[in-house]
Amino acid sequence: MYRICEKEVLAPNIIHMRFEAPRIAEAARPGQFLILRVDDRGERLPLSLAGWDPELGTVDVVFYVLGTSTMKLASLKVGDNVLNLAGPLGEPTEVSRFGEVICACGCFGIGPTIPLIKALKDAGNRVVTVVEGRGRSFIFWEERLRDLSDELHVVFGDGSCSEPGWANKFISRYLEEGNRADRIFVHGCPFMMMVVSEASRPFGVKTVVSLTPLMVDGTGMCGACRVEVGGETRFACVDGPDFDGHLVNWRTLTNRMRQLVDEEDLSQRLWERRNWHRLVHIQTNCNTNGRCYR
Ligand SMILES: Cc1cc2nc3c(=O)[nH]c(=O)nc-3n(C[C@H](O)[C@H](O)[C@H](O)COP(=O)(O)OP(=O)(O)OC[C@H]3O[C@@H](n4cnc5c(N)ncnc54)[C@H](O)[C@@H]3O)c2cc1C
Ligand code: FES
Repeated sequence: MYRICEKEVLAPNIIHMRFEAPRIAEAARPGQFLILRVDDRGERLPLSLAGWDPELGTVDVVFYVLGTSTMKLASLKVGDNVLNLAGPLGEPTEVSRFGEVICACGCFGIGPTIPLIKALKDAGNRVVTVVEGRGRSFIFWEERLRDLSDELHVVFGDGSCSEPGWANKFISRYLEEGNRADRIFVHGCPFMMMVVSEASRPFGVKTVVSLTPLMVDGTGMCGACRVEVGGETRFACVDGPDFDGHLVNWRTLTNRMRQLVDEEDLSQRLWERRNWHRLVHIQTNCNTNGRCYR
């Protein structure tokens, strides 16, 4: 059993949780993930590592509340336990002295970007971070991103800031203006990673994306997480989750991710009906002054 020692709603439907998991905290590296099971009837839920502290023996995740498993997790409170946490899984992100690096992130992808920026800075890179959100209330950990990065750009899809648009627009503009980038890293939903990869493609800047296909075992044995990269089949859980975004077949990835939508919808409706009394603990909305319910 793994105890939840912190829980915070960061943005609408986006939750940060910290777990006591000393062995994962000792071994974790940027770009890796864990697989969690809430209880013995739970599916295996992959979540990227958004931080870890080997001294305290804790690991952090940031998740978007989408369907049954993330709802179940969101309904837990500080002091509750989850049944299993397996990790760290996947290949760590390749970090070396690239030079000028752009980190693009949005939604739950802001979480794993934090340890990545730290590692890139430790390796001697200059890091320009661009964080996107539908509007102000969807951005979290802005000060942490600003403190860690050499430059931070915050872009809002609703146009309510000085740099309107999404991260892909920012990257096109940034590269068109002649700014240098030696590597781009992207964390966010598959659509965001796809459009950022398209934005950088004409400039030939290698763009590393962290893929989130459906997973089952997370150890390379079931084939559920297969993705096509450069015309070859790769398993995101053991060969990734990082891949070159210019080589990913995004159409097959998104089609495969949508293959169980009917079953997922049914599962969510049944869970909500049976667990109406737990919904009160989900509290996925921040209050208006920016502080979050716990
Ligand atoms: C290596 C890896 C790391 C991940 N890291 C994170 C993370 O840090 N935080 C996080 O919130 N999620 C992360 N994910 C995605 C997360 O595992 C899924 O969103 C989760 O399994 C959804 O489970 P569910 O039962 O709540 O929803 P489901 O019922 O399984 O899904 C609900 C709906 O959301 C769609 N969906 C599922 N996954 C995604 C997705 N990734 N993006 C957009 N739509 C999706 C489904 O097609 C379905 O329509 C990661 C996935 C992988 C493989
Ligand atoms: S999740 Fe089974 S092979 Fe990757």
